[in-house]
Amino acid sequence: MHDPRRRQSPPQYLELEIEDLALGGRGVAHHEGKVVLVEHGFPGDLVKARVYRRRRTLWEAQAEEILSASPWREPPRGPHVGTCGGCKLQGLAYAEQLAAKTSQVTEALRRLGGIDAPPMRDSIPAPEIFEYRNKMEFSFAVDRETGQLICGMHYAGRFDRVFDLQECPLVPPTYAAVVQAARAFLRERRVPAYDQRTHEGHARFLVVRRSVASGELVVNFVTTSADYALKDGFVTALTGAVPEITGIVHSVSDRKAQVAVGERMDVWFGRDHMTERLGDLEFDLAPNAFFQTNSRQAAALYDLVVRAAEPSGDELTLDLYCGTGTIGLYVAPRVSAVLGVESIAESVDNARANAARNGTDNASFECADVLDWLKQFDAAGSDDARLIVIDPPRAGLHPDVPKLLVNLKPRRIVYVSCNPAALARDAQLLGNRGYAITQVTPIDMFPHTAHIESVAVFDPRA
Ligand SMILES: C[S@@+](CC[C@H](N)C(=O)[O-])C[C@H]1O[C@@H](n2cnc3c(N)ncnc32)[C@H](O)[C@@H]1O
Repeated sequence: MHDPRRRQSPPQYLELEIEDLALGGRGVAHHEGKVVLVEHGFPGDLVKARVYRRRRTLWEAQAEEILSASPWREPPRGPHVGTCGGCKLQGLAYAEQLAAKTSQVTEALRRLGGIDAPPMRDSIPAPEIFEYRNKMEFSFAVDRETGQLICGMHYAGRFDRVFDLQECPLVPPTYAAVVQAARAFLRERRVPAYDQRTHEGHARFLVVRRSVASGELVVNFVTTSADYALKDGFVTALTGAVPEITGIVHSVSDRKAQVAVGERMDVWFGRDHMTERLGDLEFDLAPNAFFQTNSRQAAALYDLVVRAAEPSGDELTLDLYCGTGTIGLYVAPRVSAVLGVESIAESVDNARANAARNGTDNASFECADVLDWLKQFDAAGSDDARLIVIDPPRAGLHPDVPKLLVNLKPRRIVYVSCNPAALARDAQLLGNRGYAITQVTPIDMFPHTAHIESVAVFDPRA
């Protein structure tokens, strides 16, 4: 509510030269000793920016006009650039995106990890910079102006606002065709979109996933439990518009949490599973099974893990935070045995099934919290784990995990990180306990987005 007693300071506009990109994809500029983070500003741009937040040493601003464009700007693809929260770096030449990501990892290790000269290796670029994602989650929402059902993605920085998607350059065009067919059918049938403010309405999410190896395309339609008798019409509309579809599943969720996973699921058409391949391995993917979203680059990531690990052939290897066991299964032929640990039971079931499917008999998987599991493993006095691979979620390691890893005295720890800040903090904790970071290789899994993946190696200090 507007409070007339509170004096609004007038918006402040600044002319800023963008020098760098910060973690998260905003431009970095300086103004009178302050750092200014600038939305939509790329290195090399001179912009007129509106300041919308001022803290003592850090200001935040939005570029409203490009006064002189960076030489590394390129025409972006697709109608939603600048609106969609996904492609923050689209419009910046790919080589510059890679350079910026490498420098962000380097800076994080320096500033947050206290490592003066991070042992950086060249970034590994993605083989495809468009249409590389194998899975995309679209949300249904109510258009605030027209009241109509819309289907698309979230506005940048707005978990509560969705725009109507026409095209997305990160996925093949079939994905947008699925969205358009579903939207047209649901509008014609006057099915209301679920409204997360009122918790009314029916259609919630549309998750589209495709196997790069087999071409199978599975659509997961998530709704509330109300019965709108949509099955036959939905299947006819979608398979008529997109004949490549091999499976349609319907998931039901009445939970308030906005997650595209149902409490129960029915197969409406075809087959709900698909087969994906990474290197020599095959994976059977259930609709909700976790799988790396860039299949081709996932194989490159796992090859990088194997090169970084330099497995000697006879080592017990831990695959901690193993998800569906993909890294462990990749490493298994090169070591004596793999022990995977993961906290989600469904993923552990998938990991075991994937091991069986690929005839891998030296990998086993346990469902546990890594911290609890390590405490027990440590208490058992085992020092057999010579190689440890860790791939934690964005938050990084629990602060007690580095000590427990070091207690096992592994020959090497390979850390797969999706968050440079967490990697830097954990590198310091491992460093304080005698494990030095000896190589770091950024690998770009998600071109045009601000996500940064890297693989770091930790070895005991001599
Ligand atoms: C980045 S994913 C790694 C997946 C896998 N390595 C891959 O490449 O497919 C992180 C995994 O850690 C699991 N996880 C998160 N916190 C955990 C914990 N405290 N203990 C065990 N697993 C955890 C998540 O469920 C998720 O599967």
